[in-house]
Amino acid sequence: MAVILGISAFYHDSAAALVVDGEIVAAAQEERFTRRKHDHEFPLNAIRYCLDEAGLQLEQLDYVGFYEKPFVKFERLLETYLAFAPAGFASFVKAMPLWLRQKLHLPRVIRKGLGDAYHKRLVFTEHHESHAASAFFPSPFDSAAIMTLDGVGEWATASLGVGEGNRIRLSHEMHFPHSLGLLYSAFTYFTGFRVNSGEYKLMGLAPYGEPVYAETILRHLVDLKPDGSFRLDMSYFNYCQGLTMTSRKFARLFGAAPRTPESPLTQRELDLAASIQQVTEEIMLRSARHLHAITGQTNLCLAGGVALNCVGNGRILREGPFERIWIQPAAGDAGGALGVAMFIWHQLLGRPRSARIPDGQGGSLLGPRFGNDEICAFLDSVGATYHRIDDEDELCHNIAGLIREQKVVGLVQGRMEFGPRALGSRSIIGDARSPEMQSVMNLKVKFRESFRPFAPIVLRERMSEYFDMRDNEDSPYMLLVAPVAARQRLGSPDENLHGLDKLKLARSTIPAVTHVDYSARVQTVDPQRHARLHKLLQNFEQQTGCPVLINTSFNVRGEPIVCTPQDAYRCFMGTNMDALVLENVLLRKHEQQGAVDVTTKQYLAQFAAD
Ligand SMILES: [Fe+2]
Repeated sequence: MAVILGISAFYHDSAAALVVDGEIVAAAQEERFTRRKHDHEFPLNAIRYCLDEAGLQLEQLDYVGFYEKPFVKFERLLETYLAFAPAGFASFVKAMPLWLRQKLHLPRVIRKGLGDAYHKRLVFTEHHESHAASAFFPSPFDSAAIMTLDGVGEWATASLGVGEGNRIRLSHEMHFPHSLGLLYSAFTYFTGFRVNSGEYKLMGLAPYGEPVYAETILRHLVDLKPDGSFRLDMSYFNYCQGLTMTSRKFARLFGAAPRTPESPLTQRELDLAASIQQVTEEIMLRSARHLHAITGQTNLCLAGGVALNCVGNGRILREGPFERIWIQPAAGDAGGALGVAMFIWHQLLGRPRSARIPDGQGGSLLGPRFGNDEICAFLDSVGATYHRIDDEDELCHNIAGLIREQKVVGLVQGRMEFGPRALGSRSIIGDARSPEMQSVMNLKVKFRESFRPFAPIVLRERMSEYFDMRDNEDSPYMLLVAPVAARQRLGSPDENLHGLDKLKLARSTIPAVTHVDYSARVQTVDPQRHARLHKLLQNFEQQTGCPVLINTSFNVRGEPIVCTPQDAYRCFMGTNMDALVLENVLLRKHEQQGAVDVTTKQYLAQFAAD
């Protein structure tokens, strides 16, 4: 037996993953336990949870792996600062104390974090090796091409390679400061969103704009080669030497200063979002084509933060040369914890691997779950009114009925998801057919920007009726965008509507999940990976004829996705959510008069807007 713990930490999205004899037993992000979004501290709580799940102690670990090589990364920082000295001094001074205190002494920090109870080997893989391992080893493929794209690890910002059997081999790398992730982050910063978390908003904003700056970006910022590799003109960027992402020259090129966060969005930001999205998709497509040409593989595995760009992923699948794609659901740095653990098992220890169908990720339901008795005891302690419904069919029937009545329902069922997307275990769901539901859920339940689109969940067996998806376009982890099928569309785009006004038009039979360009970020739900959600969709379909629902993460703006029934109950009470389901227990808001109450204002005040 081999018990392997993987850790990612100290940059953003710390996480732990436990692999026992090649099985992924548990994986979770630290933020879910500490309630600090993108928590980058040593993932003590996540590690404790993983060991508890397996019923193991720290002393029983055989290997501990860390997802990157701190010395190589330090060398990159040092060389960058030296190259840009003295301009780089400000960020040098800011970054160094942390490095000297923590990161250069990582083996000691890790051992101390593990309570000095672990005395065996520490393994450090390269950052992109960890991403690549997380993309290939849990995938359903015996062999596949691998592409990783992110901001930066040690030096690499992108890597290409092949996975075969129980080995991965990376053959090509692109190096810092030339980085697709950092390029996208520079536009995230410039349009007034938070780097390392607002990239998703920028992608959601893109369909409201026109890509009028794409040519400018390709002419001045990005020297893009046919094979997808590129060089950035660093005079437009500031991330090597300063504390901002873009330089004054960048602002001059686009004719304005960076947008102040939270100030009104203008057409410029919408157009910048559309433009950088188009350039990003072009880079992703060219890279995929090149990778296909040099490897001859028919399958593709993706990871790295840029692999969360589900619009780009959708285009690679539909327009690219690969037959099938599998994307690691925890594509960002949290997934590195899983990658390094799998790498140790297969590549370091040489253990054989056989690809699993549908995949080896277990629906990405790798986090904690909570029992009904525990839930009822908690609800009793806070004086909540609830109904326990142990018959699963009856429960699903009730939930579907509430949604049909236009109620917004919070779901905490089964094990928490690993990765940034909620897949039905920690989700808020609603009626996708409702033209008002998008703004109701954005403004009254999630308290986030009204432009942000919602994603649909659809019965896998009926996906092609609602979305232009071929049979090979499985999207169990909500990582692919597909067009809404023509037969569901209503009318054609209104030429008179511009910018954010496009939001006002109902575009399809499922308007709440149809983006302004008729796209949707689809999660296909199959009974193997997401059984209970599948049953719920079937119930909703029986009652309404529609096999589609809105699925959004269970949190408010700036809050990590809920983990425990306690987290969920607080969010339910602090927002305008109508009903809450905790395993087999149903709560309705209007029945909660006697319960301990928090105001929405108090609830939201706990979280910094992201
Ligand atoms: Fe990364």
